[in-house]
Amino acid sequence: MGKDVIVACDFASAADTYKFLDQFTGRKPFVKIGMELFYAEGPAIVKELKARGHKVFLDLKLHDIPNTVKKSMTVLAALGADIVNCHAGGTIRMMEAALEGLEAGTPEGGERPLLIAVTQLTSTDQDALEEDLLIEKPIDQVVMHYALNTKKANLDGVVCSAQEAEKVHNICGDEFLTITPGIRFADGDKGDQKRVMTPAAAKEIGSDYIVVGRPITQAADPVEAYERCCADFIG
Ligand code: C5P
Repeated sequence: MGKDVIVACDFASAADTYKFLDQFTGRKPFVKIGMELFYAEGPAIVKELKARGHKVFLDLKLHDIPNTVKKSMTVLAALGADIVNCHAGGTIRMMEAALEGLEAGTPEGGERPLLIAVTQLTSTDQDALEEDLLIEKPIDQVVMHYALNTKKANLDGVVCSAQEAEKVHNICGDEFLTITPGIRFADGDKGDQKRVMTPAAAKEIGSDYIVVGRPITQAADPVEAYERCCADFIG
């Protein structure tokens, strides 16, 4: 898989998601499904999106003991998702177990889903890191350490801000994937995202996949916004 734009389908129901995606009569977007939608609709939504021709990033951020994560990943691999993820904070052993589970669950002749780790959530700031988690290191150092752990566990890449993508590639190599949310058009509303980057700047900095939600889902013309994102990011 090469560079692509992933549309964050943060909708409340499968019906709303399909209604939104039905507008795309040409190129079928790569879509991201999060916990809320997955818990509401279950595995059927992944199978249905695949049947409709979409690639699927199943953003469930697994974090548990290695054995539980391994078995859960085996189940997820059978759904046919293209990308799944877990927390790097679950340790290298947990990430290795996640990968083992995915390999075990990938159907014969099928392609294993890419496995990506979340480093530190962007909602965790330096104060929370030190006071709540007792991690007394600069947060960017923690993020890079977790990225290296992810590489050591042989995962495919990390979710990170576009600002971090270049450094992650420098430390973990160009083949190590960076999936970057926080994308906005230059003339668009930032919403609650603080450190944003345009699709063109994310391309320039070497991001492999951009995750774009509201700039596409809330656009007056979502198909036009999606095509603009693709033109700017993929070329
Ligand atoms: O609407 P917006 O473009 O901000 O959506 C971005 C998507 O990426 C959302 O689904 C959000 O939960 C997700 N995300 C993020 N920042 C992270 C990790 C995930 O915005 N650090």
